[in-house]
Amino acid sequence: MQRLGILISGRGSNMGAILRHVQRRRVPIRPAVVISNHAEAAGLRTAQKMGVPTRVIPSRGFGGRRQEYDRMLIGALEEHGVTGRSGLVCLAGFMRIVGPELIKRYRNRILNIHPALLPAFPGLDAQGQAIRYGARVSGCTVHFVDEGVDTGPVLLQSAVMVASDDTAESLSKKILRREHAIYPRAVELIARGQVRVLRGRVLISGRGSQKSR
Ligand code: GRF
Repeated sequence: MQRLGILISGRGSNMGAILRHVQRRRVPIRPAVVISNHAEAAGLRTAQKMGVPTRVIPSRGFGGRRQEYDRMLIGALEEHGVTGRSGLVCLAGFMRIVGPELIKRYRNRILNIHPALLPAFPGLDAQGQAIRYGARVSGCTVHFVDEGVDTGPVLLQSAVMVASDDTAESLSKKILRREHAIYPRAVELIARGQVRVLRGRVLISGRGSQKSR
């Protein structure tokens, strides 16, 4: 069975949604470890309550030593059986850019969720960017991680309408509900072997695969 490693930095609500989905729906992937770069991340408690092993690998002081930090991440993931071959790594609010070594090791096996419809509004504060731009529609994107920032192949997206009185906060809430729907589904599609990446595009096979929500 494939093994799942989830990287978080804070609240971990996407992590919780993924773990609940995997446990309730008996998705064929084993949640092997949740790793946080902050000891105080609330998501660590949630993971522990759900019976998933946790690790803290503090990133403080590793600002300019990304490679060293990424090697520690790889070490921890592999210790828990999350390998480049049978592992899936989900970035779920992990507030660090992962480096080329990790990306190479887990090529097309690292997922991220971004709170906008990529390629619109990449980077930080995507919801605020959408509000400031005056976008009428935004949403979220689950994508594979490549060497760029929020540029990898898109797996699933879900759109929400932006109301004229929306703020970055209210839009974030709307989008988060959709995140909690599509991220678990993306993990399930991969666990069930329905996803392939071909020439930078994601192909999904099986019933209902083209629905975005
Ligand atoms: C989410 O908005 C996600 O899109 C972004 O970081 C936030 C993480 O929230 N990448 P949570 O920790 O999953 O609650």
